[in-house]
Amino acid sequence: MTVLTEIDHIAIAVHDLEAAIAYYRDTFDCEVTHREVVEHDGVEEALLKVADSYIQLLTPTRDDSPVAKSLATRGEGLHHVGYRVADCAAALARVQAEGHRVIDEVPRPGSRGTTVAFLHPKSAFGTLIELVQE
Ligand code: CO
Repeated sequence: MTVLTEIDHIAIAVHDLEAAIAYYRDTFDCEVTHREVVEHDGVEEALLKVADSYIQLLTPTRDDSPVAKSLATRGEGLHHVGYRVADCAAALARVQAEGHRVIDEVPRPGSRGTTVAFLHPKSAFGTLIELVQE
C-alpha cells in the first residue's frame, strides 16, 4: 500500500464558477455533489464526483486569496492535485523528514470535514500537492 491511496481531487481555478459548473454538466453530465465556501482559503468550491474522485472547481471570494493571485498570474486552469492519504499527519511528517518544503507545517481542516496539508510546488516538480485525509 502506498502512502497515496487515491486521487482525491483535481482542483481547477476559474473566474466564473457557475459557467464552469454548467460546462461540466452540459458536456459531461457531471453534477455538483458538494458546495462550500472555505473562509480560510478565500475560495468557493464546487465538487463534481467522478468515480471515487472529484473535480474541484475553485473561484476566489476575496482579492487576497491564493486562488485570486493564481488567476491573476497564471490564468484559469489546473491549480493543485489532492492526493488522498490514510493519515495526513504521518504523510506530512514523512515529506518533512525527507527534507522537502511544505506550505502547511501541520495538518488543518479542509472542506467537507477533511484534514489537509499543502506541499510546496518547488519541492514537488512544479505541482502544488494537497494531502487529503477523509
Ligand atoms: Co484542494
